[in-house]
Amino acid sequence: MAAMRQSESLDARFYQAAGQFFPANNKLALTFDDVTLATLYSEILPRDTQLDTQLAENLRLNIPIISSDMDTVTESRMAIAMAANGGLGLIHYNMPERQQLSEVSRVKNHVHGLIQEPIQVAPDQLIGDVLALIEQKKFGFSTFPVVDDKGKLVGLLSGHVVKPRYAKRKVADALTPRAQVHTITQKELGKDPIARADKFFNEHLGIHKLLVVDDKDNLRGLFTMSDIERITQERNAQFKPARDARFHLICGAAVSATRNAFGELDREWILNHVGGLVERGVDVVAVSTAHGHSRGVGDTVRVLRDAFPKLPIIAGNVTSAAGVEFLADCGANAIKVGQGPGSICTTRIVAGVGIPQMTALYVCSRAAAKKKITILADGGIVKSGDIVKALTFSQSVICGGIFAGCNEAPGDAVEISGKLYKQYRGMGSFAAMKSGSAARYGHSSNPMQKVAPEGVEALKEACGSVDRVLAQLIGGIQSGMGYLGAANLTQLRDKARYIRVSPAGMREAAPHDVVELKTGS
Ligand code: XMP
Repeated sequence: MAAMRQSESLDARFYQAAGQFFPANNKLALTFDDVTLATLYSEILPRDTQLDTQLAENLRLNIPIISSDMDTVTESRMAIAMAANGGLGLIHYNMPERQQLSEVSRVKNHVHGLIQEPIQVAPDQLIGDVLALIEQKKFGFSTFPVVDDKGKLVGLLSGHVVKPRYAKRKVADALTPRAQVHTITQKELGKDPIARADKFFNEHLGIHKLLVVDDKDNLRGLFTMSDIERITQERNAQFKPARDARFHLICGAAVSATRNAFGELDREWILNHVGGLVERGVDVVAVSTAHGHSRGVGDTVRVLRDAFPKLPIIAGNVTSAAGVEFLADCGANAIKVGQGPGSICTTRIVAGVGIPQMTALYVCSRAAAKKKITILADGGIVKSGDIVKALTFSQSVICGGIFAGCNEAPGDAVEISGKLYKQYRGMGSFAAMKSGSAARYGHSSNPMQKVAPEGVEALKEACGSVDRVLAQLIGGIQSGMGYLGAANLTQLRDKARYIRVSPAGMREAAPHDVVELKTGS
């Protein structure tokens, strides 16, 4: 027993709790690679760890990961993928306000598993045209709903007849007529469309397609049995989609502290726009600026809090305890912490301002705990280990660069020397500010005015689907929690012990002295 106490006190002298470690290092600003976490006795297997996190009374995620409100990262496709995996996407505001409203609508109306705009064919097309379409678009399927020029369903063209021998025949002659096609109306789908479709396929032996129509028999969607089977299997997965009370995927949207022509906060515009977002079902708004500890951001949060008492509000960015307290007092529920850590940021170089992330997170987390609000670690995350470290202080992380190369990020991939890349740019880059985000950095978007960009335009290597990237990140987080014996994120925060890493220690942490054949990712 005495020996155990001795070993424990030896550990405690080297591997310190946050309250000891960070004040002892208060002359130096530290970031992720400057520290490492010590292992602890564990009875927890990584796969048994829980990652759910409460960001505000009405905002809970099943994984603590949010995609950044950046115009090369989060629009509806990314937000759908994030929520489907249990996280959250923040739709950026570098677009006309109407477009932001419809991006939010797209996420809120997305029915997982329902193909909302199925590829359709017309009755007067030839089967040969359909074969050419399949060849050209490389479709892996050959059954299509047949729809007339007014959008009305007229039948189903089954894969059995989409054959070269029938190339000269018309779709109208080969289709299964409307009366024999299995359909369901939008209203009949109810609260759980997947369960409804699953029941249908159980009851209709050998039928693999179910078409969705509206009251006027216009085609509104298509379920396939294979999609439903995949989703029902996913339902048994550990991390469920993040949904609202009405079973819709959750979605966030960013807004800026918009000013009118007189330079005053444009309260009317802000209230109207956020009112529109709320009408469309937005679950959280983020007042996103580079300097959150400022009058404009504070006033915006106050205006929104008064008008929408129950709406979860994220605000930022800050890196000080005073900044957290200020935004909490204005009514924010979750505060974005990070000034200058982002992979495309140049704030620290241009403005000479900003704090490395681990120190900023420690300081902000102390103020947040007092105010009973949450913090989000925003920027600088390049690997899952960084997320584990960030989660020892924050309730979630916000990532841009990690997702910018995904298929679901806006924009097409470009090929350069045989490799595929996607554009990734800072919202404070010249190009992004010109197309609208200047307010975030306190500049005018008038190109005639002098602005100092605080971000760069860059490329990220294309990296496949968000599902794949998140699976790796989640695996890493769970692994870190297993090493610390933490069953959930609260335990991770309580148990973390830190020590500084030397430059040689950092080199030791990455693969070294080998010829790498395959990267870890
Ligand atoms: P990562 O490291 O995930 O960072 O790529 C994304 C975060 O960076 C912030 N951001 C910027 N910061 N200049 C900055 O100083 C910029 O141009 C810029 N654009 C985005 C933002 O907080 C984002 O979530």
